[in-house]
Amino acid sequence: MSRIFLAGASGAIGRRLTPLLLAHGHSVSGATRSPDNGEILRKLGARAVLVDVFDAEALAGAVLQAKPEIVIHQLTDLSGIHDPARRSGARAGNARIRDEGTRNLVAAARKAGARRLIAQSIAWAYAPGPRPYGEDHPLDLDAEGDWAVSVQGVASLERQVLAASPMEGLVLRYGRFYGPGSGTDTPPTPPSLHVDAAAYAALLAIDHGAPGIFNLADPNDEVSTDKAIAALGWRADFRVD
Ligand SMILES: NC(=O)c1ccc[n+]([C@@H]2O[C@H](COP(=O)([O-])OP(=O)(O)OC[C@H]3O[C@@H](n4cnc5c(N)ncnc54)[C@H](OP(=O)(O)O)[C@@H]3O)[C@@H](O)[C@H]2O)c1
Repeated sequence: MSRIFLAGASGAIGRRLTPLLLAHGHSVSGATRSPDNGEILRKLGARAVLVDVFDAEALAGAVLQAKPEIVIHQLTDLSGIHDPARRSGARAGNARIRDEGTRNLVAAARKAGARRLIAQSIAWAYAPGPRPYGEDHPLDLDAEGDWAVSVQGVASLERQVLAASPMEGLVLRYGRFYGPGSGTDTPPTPPSLHVDAAAYAALLAIDHGAPGIFNLADPNDEVSTDKAIAALGWRADFRVD
């Protein structure tokens, strides 16, 4: 049973993950900027922490107060991603939170003495090459345009999490979401992933798996999920209900 600080507790994964963590006996301090979302988290049984991750000082204070053993990073900034006119701005905002938000969270977690840091990444930023991509395959760092901004954000997040020593850093490369809160109930283009299976991977990563990267996706030809299945005991068909 661990004390957990969950950044992004009110997001698509956070809302599925919070009850799962509580049901497994963990205590959860769930971060959000919004008092309304804080109220939702309280109703789920979490301690709500109102903080903006871009305010490094406030975040450090909030994480220190929560005294977490485990910090889970489910932050994205994707509001507007489904509107073509706002997509470019959403990608830039998301890259910023992956870079600067992660920097602030790693610093706060380290200062608070957390043991393990588990962070959300994506499983479709691999450089072109023979499939299925394993976790050792390079990221698409030669990408161009808007996509380059996203890949740079992903690379920054992953570098920081994997170098978070003395904390153990685990990166969860999630497929494209479907299920509650994702905007679709139909699996998108592979690699796809149900939000419950994504939340389940974060739950398992608390006390399974060595530091490193894990692909999580429905069975597909794009990415291999053998490592997560073997090391975390993860399964793609996990559902909360
Ligand atoms: N792998 C994937 O396919 C993938 C991954 C992520 C998201 N998405 C999609 O993107 C859409 C939006 O998802 P979402 O609701 O999870 O994302 P979101 O609205 O971008 O928010 C995610 C979480 O990050 C938090 N957050 C964002 N900026 C923050 C800041 N500056 N300080 C503190 N917390 C901050 C939000 O908290 P508050 O807003 O409550 O402050 C929320 O808890 C959905 O359709 C989802 O399926 C897909």
